[in-house]
Amino acid sequence: MAFPRRPSAALRYVIPAFLFAFCFWLLASPSDLTSGVSSIASPWRSKQSPGKHPIDRLIEAAEKDFAEKLSKTSRTLSEAAARYRERRGRHPPPGFDRWYQFAREKDALIVEDFWDQIYHDIEPFWALKPARIRKDAWDFEMRISIRDGKASSGSDWFWTTIWLDLIGTIEHMLPDMDLALNAMDEPRLVVPWEDINGYMKKAAKTRRMADAKSVVSEFEKLAAPGQGLDQHEKTPEKQWEGEKHYWLIARRGCAPSSPARKAAVITDFDTTPLIKSSFALKHMRDGFVANYTLSTDFCHQPDQQGLEGIFVEPLSVSATKVLFPMFGGSKLAVNNEILLPAPMYWKEEERFMGSEGADIPWSDKEDMAIWRGVATGGHNREHTWRAFQRHRFVAMNNATQLALAENGTSAPPNFGLPPKEYRLAARRHSRLADWVGSWSSVALTDLMCDYEDHEPNQCNYTSPYFSVVPGMPMAEQFHYKYLPDIDGNSFSGRYLGFLRSTSLPVKATLWREWHDSRLIAWKHFVPMDTRFGDWYGIMEYFLGDQMSGIPAHDEAAERIALAGKEWAARVLRKEDMQVYVLRLLLEYARVSDDRRESMGWVGDLLKGET
Ligand SMILES: *[C@@H]1O[C@H](CO)[C@@H](O)[C@H](O)[C@H]1NC(C)=O
Ligand SMILES: *[C@@H]1O[C@H](CO)[C@@H](O)[C@H](O)[C@H]1NC(C)=O
Ligand SMILES: *[C@@H]1O[C@H](CO)[C@@H](O)[C@H](O)[C@H]1NC(C)=O
Ligand SMILES: *[C@@H]1O[C@H](CO)[C@@H](O)[C@H](O)[C@H]1NC(C)=O
Repeated sequence: MAFPRRPSAALRYVIPAFLFAFCFWLLASPSDLTSGVSSIASPWRSKQSPGKHPIDRLIEAAEKDFAEKLSKTSRTLSEAAARYRERRGRHPPPGFDRWYQFAREKDALIVEDFWDQIYHDIEPFWALKPARIRKDAWDFEMRISIRDGKASSGSDWFWTTIWLDLIGTIEHMLPDMDLALNAMDEPRLVVPWEDINGYMKKAAKTRRMADAKSVVSEFEKLAAPGQGLDQHEKTPEKQWEGEKHYWLIARRGCAPSSPARKAAVITDFDTTPLIKSSFALKHMRDGFVANYTLSTDFCHQPDQQGLEGIFVEPLSVSATKVLFPMFGGSKLAVNNEILLPAPMYWKEEERFMGSEGADIPWSDKEDMAIWRGVATGGHNREHTWRAFQRHRFVAMNNATQLALAENGTSAPPNFGLPPKEYRLAARRHSRLADWVGSWSSVALTDLMCDYEDHEPNQCNYTSPYFSVVPGMPMAEQFHYKYLPDIDGNSFSGRYLGFLRSTSLPVKATLWREWHDSRLIAWKHFVPMDTRFGDWYGIMEYFLGDQMSGIPAHDEAAERIALAGKEWAARVLRKEDMQVYVLRLLLEYARVSDDRRESMGWVGDLLKGET
């Protein structure tokens, strides 16, 4: 696929398919909707509710999704086991009864889907020899070991100590195992798609339910790390790649036929980036994110290579193609780490969590969006900063830059004006700058300048576009209703704090975390495309535009903010992290056990038999 660079800002968003499809919601009168239009338009032809805003429909769909999820809550051990077998195609792991009991003691909501991430992460390991998994784990320099119900680590790296603390709270229920840990911000395993595909096929063949009477319900004891028979196991050598242009590494995790694999590689980041809304069509409906999980997958979005710091130049890169069981706190869709809750979530650092102020009543808050942050995303440089997401988001909220672009004085340095298809009232009346300026307070607190010899808060390549403001504690940010959340070097650590507050998180991310399958977009938070082209449309929906008579949807915003807070207090507690990790480590121990295919918990099936 050709990947032409397009210098003209005005043209950047004009993508025929997107425009065409979009027009039907935005421009069509009811009679247009019934005239013969191409099938592209059909999702927009909502005959029952032609006047509805697309976000109304997304919120309705989310409510339905959520109700469905809740209806699958398990209330007994045998129900939980049955749902496990139905969803996973195997018996639950040994220790499942203790896990269930623990989950009940901790008052955890038990919905099998909540643990989907575990199975996504662990499944390929069913294709590797258990001895190889075990050897690779203890052979790694940064690790936690569990023997005889005691967790320990030789490393005092602060992340390791936090994870050790978490695992320590459940150690007495854990079998022997070793966990290799990724202590870097950036994920490190990118196994080529072709290999993972092969592993998944092989793993699928092991998915079956052994006869309950022959099931092994005990885990194997392990020798001390480095001792026992495993030390003679030959494991594939890992080459650690340091290629700073991480896109070249990351995209091998995408299918060979995917746009990410086929698109030409961008090497010049010194111009306004190409932002192609058409690449977002797959995960958006009527201009807003409709499939959040898919929106975090970049394989269909090759323009992401020039829109996210991680792909241009992460702070550090040390990656391998070899699958081995490494645990980490977050990852991109293509990475093969096994996710644990990120350390800062377990530690509940005030800097990220900001429990103070989290209860401010909605009606006492400013009708505004607030964002403060450091210019992270990777290593920004004079010739690459335009490809960084935080720089882009900040510039898109800068009234001066919007005014310059709107009145044609200068093209935006690193973004595009919102696609016409959103039909923003302010844009149509050429007062986007004033309108955005009236509700947005978004600024950098540190430019992370590439050069040493700069004045404080100055940077010779970004200062013309950004000014530095003091940081703002979370407690103060909670005085604002809208909290956009933009990725830094990896996932944004403040997200949980945002969810736990009475303000509304607007989340744009490419990162995956342990909790993803328990949060529902448009029910518990507002999803945003990582191009941010939908940002103004989202805000017009919630805030309205008084001057143009566009109604606000303040109660809808409040409802999502409070539903997110309530849900976080229900399923994102530290107890929920313990329940998640216990389930995860039982699975991990089983897949590392030589007898794994005949192992399981079948207490419910044997009941009543003598
Ligand atoms: C979202 O996309 C994923 C991946 O393509 C797909 O499996 C899933 O069914 C989609 N979900 C919805 C609600 O469309
Ligand atoms: C365009 O907007 C900028 C920023 O507000 C302003 O300084 C400039 O005078 C405007 N130019 C024109 C031609 O209106
Ligand atoms: C910024 O400063 C560095 C180092 O002093 C210099 O190499 C570079 O050319 C300067 N760039 C600009 C845009 O002035
Ligand atoms: C907004 O943009 C102007 C001009 O590009 C710049 O001087 C100013 O510092 C920017 N403001 C912020 C808060 O970054």
